[in-house]
Order: sequence, then structure tokens, then C-alpha cells
Amino acid sequence: MALIELSNISKIYDTGSVTVKALDKVTLSIEEGEFVVVLGPSGCGKTTMLNLIGALDTPSRGTVTIGGFDLSTGNRSSLSRIRRNTVSFVFQSFNLFPGLTAEENVQFGLDVSGNKSEYTAANVLADVGLENRSTHFPHELSGGEQQRVAIARALATSNPILLADEPTGELDFETGKQILKLLVSQANMNRAVLVVSHNREIAQIADRVIQLSSGQIISDGPPIDGKKDVDSLRW
Ligand SMILES: Nc1ncnc2c1ncn2[C@@H]1O[C@H](COP(=O)(O)OP(=O)(O)O)[C@@H](O)[C@H]1O
Ligand SMILES: [Mg+2]
Repeated sequence: MALIELSNISKIYDTGSVTVKALDKVTLSIEEGEFVVVLGPSGCGKTTMLNLIGALDTPSRGTVTIGGFDLSTGNRSSLSRIRRNTVSFVFQSFNLFPGLTAEENVQFGLDVSGNKSEYTAANVLADVGLENRSTHFPHELSGGEQQRVAIARALATSNPILLADEPTGELDFETGKQILKLLVSQANMNRAVLVVSHNREIAQIADRVIQLSSGQIISDGPPIDGKKDVDSLRW
């Protein structure tokens, strides 16, 4: 059994006036240690897919299985355990706690996870280049710096699944490359890393690229021109 299994997943949002089929019969499995880029245009269902894998939302049809556990059979406490100990999430909108400093936001990630790593919050902030921002609050940080705090919070734990929604969206080229290297290193430590992006260049560093279009998988395989090093990226 793979670490992540989506079986015939559909997700329909019904706002009353409009019904949107955000995911349409998606089936896939992802093993530990895989570095996967989910690629597709805005609105194709990428964030919806991550939310389902992260046990933050439930599918309309189909089953999501994480580490052999069918999420549809979970209760509040078992799902909460999955969110704390199995999945680390870098949200598209960062979701930092406004009343906590950068270091406290990262420490929070460590505090809630049962998987302690050998790193301190300060170590991980230094890894993302923010050693001089540890006492800053989110509103005192630029968008790119907030994004790096969100990434540090997810890197601080050793949960087996790392989900990152457009993690380089706010970053300049050099900082973006540095973050991508950190994400690749997580997969090398046997975590399953799923990075969502609309950027075709980023897809070239993946082991596997899953292309979504209108809620459906239209291709799934290694990058067309072969896997590249982060250092060889141009965008
Ligand atoms: N909570 C929601 N309620 C209604 N529609 C939604 C909701 N979340 C997403 N959608 C719609 O579902 C589709 C997929 O959204 P999303 O997964 O956020 O796409 P992506 O991350 O690829 O940009 C979009 O058409 C979006 O408008
Ligand atoms: Mg999105």
C-alpha cells in the first residue's frame, strides 16, 4: 500500500447558485521519498487536491487513504492525529499566526507534531535565510519572508508527507531556488513531497509530474525532457 492513495476522487463545491466540479475521478498513488509536482493552471483543482490529502476537507466521492488509513473512516481525533503527525502543510496563503513571531510560528509546528526532529526553530529559520527575522511578527515581514516562515514551519517536523501549495509564488529567483533545494532534500530524506505549481520550469526538477486540467489528471510521469537539477533552472 502506497503512502498516499486517491481512489476515484471527485470533489463538487455547491455554493447554492453554482456547482463546481473541482476534481473529477482522480486516482493516483504516491510512495514515500517521491518528489511530485502537481502542475496546472489556476482553478484546475490543485489546492482542492492538497486539502483532501491533508485531511482538511472531504471528497464528494471516492476514498483518500494515508499510510493505509482510509480517511472516511476517521473520527475527529484520528483525523487530527493525521494532521499533526503525518502531514506538514505549506499553505498558499501562508496561514501564519499573526500574534506569534517568526520563530514562535516555527516552534508551533514543532510543538504540535509528535515527530520531533533534531532541529530547533532557530536552525530551520536559518535554513530558509531568516536568521535575522526570528523576532519579527508576520505583519513586519514581506510576502516572500512570510512564505519562507511557512516553509520553515513545515520543514521543522519530520512528518512523512510534505504538501506545499505554490511555495515559490512570492519569491525571487535565487530565493526560490534555495527553497526548492530544501524541498528536494526532504524527499531525499524519504518524505513524500508534493509541490503544487503553475510553473512548468519547476516541474522539471520533479521525479514525477502530475498534470491537472479542469479537475482531471491529463498526464502523470517523469518530466518530458528528463529530470533537472535545481541549479539549472531558468524562469
Ligand atoms: N470553497 C469553495 N467553494 C466553491 N468553489 C470552490 C471552493 N474552492 C475552490 N472552488 C472552485 O474549485 C475550482 C478549483 O479550485 P482550486 O482547487 O483552488 O484550484 P487551483 O488551486 O488549481 O487554482 C475553482 O474553479 C474554484 O473556483
Ligand atoms: Mg490553489
